[in-house]
Amino acid sequence: MTTKCLAIETSCDETAVAIVDDNKNIVANIVKSQIDLHQIYGGVVPEIAARAHLDVLDDLIKQALVDTRLEQIDIFAATCGPGLIGGLVVGVTAAKTLAAITGKPFFAVNHLAGHALTARLTNQISFPYLMLLISGGHCQILLVSQPEKYDLIGQTIDDSLGECFDKVAQMLNLGYPGGPAIEKQAINGNPNRFKFSLPLISKKNHQNLFNFSFSGLKTAVRLQIEKISPLNQQDIADISASFQATIGKILIDRLSNVVANRDIKNIVIAGGVAANRYILTSLQNWAKKYNIQVIAPPIKLCTDNAVMIAWAALERQKFDHVGDDLSFAPRPRWQL
Ligand code: KG4
Ligand code: ZN
Repeated sequence: MTTKCLAIETSCDETAVAIVDDNKNIVANIVKSQIDLHQIYGGVVPEIAARAHLDVLDDLIKQALVDTRLEQIDIFAATCGPGLIGGLVVGVTAAKTLAAITGKPFFAVNHLAGHALTARLTNQISFPYLMLLISGGHCQILLVSQPEKYDLIGQTIDDSLGECFDKVAQMLNLGYPGGPAIEKQAINGNPNRFKFSLPLISKKNHQNLFNFSFSGLKTAVRLQIEKISPLNQQDIADISASFQATIGKILIDRLSNVVANRDIKNIVIAGGVAANRYILTSLQNWAKKYNIQVIAPPIKLCTDNAVMIAWAALERQKFDHVGDDLSFAPRPRWQL
């Protein structure tokens, strides 16, 4: 007997609906991006995002159910946080309504748990594993030992990594979202032309061994841009490549500290920035000498989607979780 989950993701600027079963079949995976609505503002506008989720969600649910009858769904799930509250309310209300009318369980899923567990859907990985969560809102290193057991090892003390990519892209007039644009520019750039210093690296006190800081790097890039402006195409490519290479070095330095006194076999990188293939390849090359496998889900499952929310709900259900109460309120902030 398989268990089928229909899940809804509306925490940021993607409206997504998916149906996944516990045999790892992705029955439906629909993602409607709102990027075109937010692009002119250079970032996500919460009120516009919430309204856009409301406009399209019903139709996306219908599309997801094209080959599946509603009665065939065993559990319903929605991202309940962290995220923008207006969007969360739209998705959570829809999933709760479907659960209520069908009499099936409702699962309130943490968006970060979705990112954290996706690699177990796409790859054969057993617990425990180390997770580098690099998204628009987070930069954390966690030890994942069960679907609901996460130990925080290190995190950013200022900006998230996605935010840092987006801000640097904005300085280079590369548009929003910035991460993919920087990765594209960097392909034609010289990563050694600019040397940006590595934050926290020289300060070897215990807390700083595993934490991140990106605000100084952002300022260093801004000062460099001011120094050589006006920028030509090659300057933009070289700054992108040098910035991206610096990020690679920072991640490797922090992960080296973490694995130094732990027995780690797998590192999963998750979140939107995990879509960056330069970062993935750099980490994979570094990890070879430790015999560690570095895994990132396929790009379309790294950026926000509802497959990961469905899978997180199925993992929890397998772990004897009967579901959450329909009174479970969305949480704009929700630590793993
Ligand atoms: O996980 P995500 O889709 O949304 C959040 O939950 O935050 O992450 C979005 C972030 C954005 O900052 C975006 O610029 C970044 O992920 N991103 C990338 C790439 N693709 C998306 N950053 C670097 N390289 C990429 N290829
Ligand atoms: Zn995300």
